[in-house]
Amino acid sequence: MRATSQAQPNIALIKYWGKRDAGRNLPAVGSLSVTLESLWTRMTVSFPADARADALTVNGRPDAGMLPRVSACLDDLLGVGRRSAVVDSDCNFPIAAGLASSASAFAALVVAASHAAGLTTGTLDLARAAGRASGSAARSLYGGLVELEVGEDDIRLVQRAVPSDWPLRVVVAVTERGPKPVGSTEGMTRSAATSPFYSDWVARQGEDLAIARAAVAARDFEQLAAVSEHNCLKMHSVMWTSRPPIVYWNRSTVGCMEAVRDLQRAGHGVFFTIDAGPQVKAVCLPESETAVREALGAVVGVQDILRTGLGDGARLVQPG
Ligand code: DP6
Repeated sequence: MRATSQAQPNIALIKYWGKRDAGRNLPAVGSLSVTLESLWTRMTVSFPADARADALTVNGRPDAGMLPRVSACLDDLLGVGRRSAVVDSDCNFPIAAGLASSASAFAALVVAASHAAGLTTGTLDLARAAGRASGSAARSLYGGLVELEVGEDDIRLVQRAVPSDWPLRVVVAVTERGPKPVGSTEGMTRSAATSPFYSDWVARQGEDLAIARAAVAARDFEQLAAVSEHNCLKMHSVMWTSRPPIVYWNRSTVGCMEAVRDLQRAGHGVFFTIDAGPQVKAVCLPESETAVREALGAVVGVQDILRTGLGDGARLVQPG
């Protein structure tokens, strides 16, 4: 009745922003992401016979804020008649700052909880359960380059490349450590209701996904770079044109984007992407990693640089 899992966050190159069905948390658009390697959430779940209510700690401290979402995910996965759970989560990177901590958290949760409960649920069903808790979490059940497809009734996940197929690197410039001003769920609802660009965003997502899929199949970095930056800027245009506007960037975010442009002009294989937060993720070829790290580290306001390769999907691990 106890299991420990590890999941890594993923970064979308073709973004999820908007819901077709908020009740089932079904995304309005497909997405394509890279699962990271060195950033992780480790989670231990148990169902002690004497537990009276669910309990959650994050990095050793009780977390009442996140507990309702964790309980709802456990209800969805195991049924409301389940036993109360004790969930202990550890995370080695900043939480709720646009580094996809909810993705690794819910991916780790469904893996540990299903095993602790003695279930042998398959990966796709675990991904669907994680996705109902947080859309992007579904992708962290798989490693490498992962596509999330949205069908009529549910999502499907396709691993487009394993990490060793295309050993890309990701350099994350942390420009602010606090939690984001507008959560993704609220932001998506606002964008769908108010941005004049939202319907075009949804209608044209298939084109970007097709280009990105072809780029991954051909290991065409330039093509992946161009479509990823375009898709990122399109998503942020939808955010900026929502009412009230949703602006996650700060000065350093823009400074990092300029630094990436300079690196590109100097011939480096690198592109940027930005999610619901001010951090800049630079995806690059291994030979450009040092230059990317140095350039982003020199941008005014950058507080930390994280570096990682691509990693595997969520899995059981030994407690430790
Ligand atoms: C900008 O998965 O956090 O990171 O389903 O409402 O929990 P909910 O949203 P979430 O949204 C992620 C948005 C994004 C883009 C992406 O990861 O695809």
